[in-house]
Amino acid sequence: MTLRRRLGVAIAALLVIMALAFCGVFLTQRGYQLDQLDDRLAGLSGNTKALVALSTRAEAGTGKAGDLLTDVYVGVHRANGSLRTVLAPDTDPALVPRLLGNERDAGAVTRTTSSGSTERVRLVEAFLDGQRYAVVAVSMAGVEAQSRRLAIALLLAWMVVAAVALLTAYWIDRLGLRPIAHLTAAAEHVTATGGRAAVQVDSGNPATEAGRLGTAFNAMVATTAAGQEQLRRFVADASHELRTPLTTLRGYSSLYAQGGLATEDQVADAMGRINAEATRMSRIVDDLLDLTALGDQSALQLAPVDLATVLDDLAADLRVRNPDRAVTVRRSGRTLVLADSDRIRQALTALVANAVKYSDAGSPVEFVAEQRGGVVGVRVADRGRGIPASELPRVFDRFYRVAGAGPKGSGLGLAVVAAIISAHNGRYGVESEPGKGSVFWIELVAAPAGG
Ligand SMILES: Nc1ncnc2c1ncn2[C@@H]1O[C@H](COP(=O)(O)OP(=O)(O)O)[C@@H](O)[C@H]1O
Ligand SMILES: [Mg+2]
Repeated sequence: MTLRRRLGVAIAALLVIMALAFCGVFLTQRGYQLDQLDDRLAGLSGNTKALVALSTRAEAGTGKAGDLLTDVYVGVHRANGSLRTVLAPDTDPALVPRLLGNERDAGAVTRTTSSGSTERVRLVEAFLDGQRYAVVAVSMAGVEAQSRRLAIALLLAWMVVAAVALLTAYWIDRLGLRPIAHLTAAAEHVTATGGRAAVQVDSGNPATEAGRLGTAFNAMVATTAAGQEQLRRFVADASHELRTPLTTLRGYSSLYAQGGLATEDQVADAMGRINAEATRMSRIVDDLLDLTALGDQSALQLAPVDLATVLDDLAADLRVRNPDRAVTVRRSGRTLVLADSDRIRQALTALVANAVKYSDAGSPVEFVAEQRGGVVGVRVADRGRGIPASELPRVFDRFYRVAGAGPKGSGLGLAVVAAIISAHNGRYGVESEPGKGSVFWIELVAAPAGG
């Protein structure tokens, strides 16, 4: 059962229960008033002696009691039922009951009157002596007026409660249930389109649960759509990047099949190219696998790593490969961090490789490791070509390369660096000036002292 239907049923039940309760109140109250009327009738009719005395006097023409009892009718009948005399007002037709003949042993009963209108009386018959009995009747006008007033009051109260309940239901529906129905429809639409549709709902009032749900839903859909788009672009870029070496490989194999590689030298040359392209491909695949693996932080093997020592190692390697470059390492403070040693080495290697790749053969490079407060910062600085300011925000993107950057590359190196540093909850960045050089920096939380 939907929430909406449950709400409807609950309100209907509330209104029915209230109506029944009000009917109970009404009937109890009316019963109580009738009881009082009957008590009065019993008092009047029970005093047989007084009635006998009064009727004897009336028949003798010596006085009427009616002057004292203005809202009571007393008629004295013969045993055969015919009216003998009227003791109390015979002038007011609203008090003279229309007898049906079966009142004798019925106790108090309600009868219409000879007035012909809706007025009614409550009456009892009292046995006086062998020849006479009295009919005593009291007007019910007062009781009925009170009942009417009570009924109107209860009906009004019920209507007010019903109106409040319906308004509340409408309010809940507007603020809570209808937005949820919209959300459900939107979610179903998103599912139907395989998550590609970036459907946004009107989240409405953020102070309501439904409003917050709508906002969260919109954020979720936007994130999912962005993720899907990123994935799509990633797959497109990766395929594109792998296609170039594959085309080269296929070119050489079909050249060989057609007998295009005649001499030994040509074969050796082709083999060399094939090897280079295959190496490039496997490097791309390795980087892609790294990027995927680094999404999972728990795969990191954390241990104390001295970043200055890593830089020293990289500097030593670089000096061997590039004897004509001035490579300096500066360190200050305690440069120990908790990190996955292999991954950090991989990241710094990529930064150093770029510094070498994008600067002239003999230009100096500088590595710095220093402790500042709770973090250890590393800088890899070169005096190379630099990066235009407009390109800076994108150099850490996957497959992104600055246009005309020169030496071949996949554009994955810095993306892997970013992924490694992010997995360590560190920060990274770059400062660069075209023509002057670049400084790539990373920051990792310092390892706790004494550990
Ligand atoms: N030290 C640097 N100096 C100048 N440009 C750089 C430097 N490091 C990276 N870049 C630029 O950033 C781009 C992305 O770098 P990277 O992700 O390592 O890809 P790749 O080196 O494979 O091209 C490079 O193509 C290059 O244009
Ligand atoms: Mg690179």
